[in-house]
Amino acid sequence: MLKVTNAQIVYDNVIEAVRDVSFEVRGSQIVALLGSNGAGKSTVLKAISGVLYPEDGEVQSGAIEFDGRSLLGAAADKIVRSGIVQVPEGRQLFDELTVEENLLMGGYTQPVSVVKQNLEKVYDLFSRVAERRSNVAGYLSGGEQQMVAVGRALMSDPKLLMLDEPSLGLAPQIIEEIFQTIVNLRKERDVSILLVEQNARLALEVSDYAYIMENGRVVMDDEPAKLLENEDVKEFYLGFSDGGTRKNMRDVKHYKRRKRWLS
Ligand SMILES: Nc1ncnc2c1ncn2[C@@H]1O[C@H](COP(=O)(O)OP(=O)(O)OP(=O)(O)O)[C@@H](O)[C@H]1O
Ligand SMILES: [Mg+2]
Repeated sequence: MLKVTNAQIVYDNVIEAVRDVSFEVRGSQIVALLGSNGAGKSTVLKAISGVLYPEDGEVQSGAIEFDGRSLLGAAADKIVRSGIVQVPEGRQLFDELTVEENLLMGGYTQPVSVVKQNLEKVYDLFSRVAERRSNVAGYLSGGEQQMVAVGRALMSDPKLLMLDEPSLGLAPQIIEEIFQTIVNLRKERDVSILLVEQNARLALEVSDYAYIMENGRVVMDDEPAKLLENEDVKEFYLGFSDGGTRKNMRDVKHYKRRKRWLS
């Protein structure tokens, strides 16, 4: 369904944020894209969604295809119409608008009758969002805002939902709830999911396949069960040393600076 091949993405004509990235999301799959700060994960998602232009970013070489058609150069709204939608990092709701108004924004590519149906579907999925429909979005909790952001994306009936760090800044219980929703979406509505996460453990628990990015490159890809057993993954992304004792963040960061998988 989605195929990214040897993508190279540059900002301001000089900053090479993504050097060489290839990956694939097949129908009904949950695919995780993992990696630490600055690896280029968000840049890849923005390239797929066609929203690099305002940031002066550009795909310089490589291919991005959805159902066999190239997305390169396509306008963002056309990409949404083709069935791909992104939930951006940090939710990016319209804070002064109500929850319902935010959701309606997500339905802009759909006819009015479909918008109404989809709104009800979102309220069925997230009862908490339904309760808050008349509240101003800016005053919701982080977890509720994330649910609204996911709901807004679902308003366009996507075939592929791309989530950029949905767990960011949320309490463990809320994260569980959001990940459960992701799993249910795939199961019940057959939506494919591309999940960008720094929370590697959770992402590996729910995904069918995962890619790890470092410095603008995919350095490893495998089935989650295999990655969970990998010593490097354990050490750098799951925070465990060989003996299974939790390393402190400073140690892990120190290692990350010292060691690169591909150099
Ligand atoms: N608008 C921009 N202009 C210039 N450079 C940028 C821009 N956005 C991102 N970059 C650079 O591109 C690289 C990749 O950034 P990106 O945001 O894609 O990483 P990320 O993997 O999403 O990181 P994080 O986990 O922190 O969100 C970084 O070096 C970043 O500084
Ligand atoms: Mg990011």
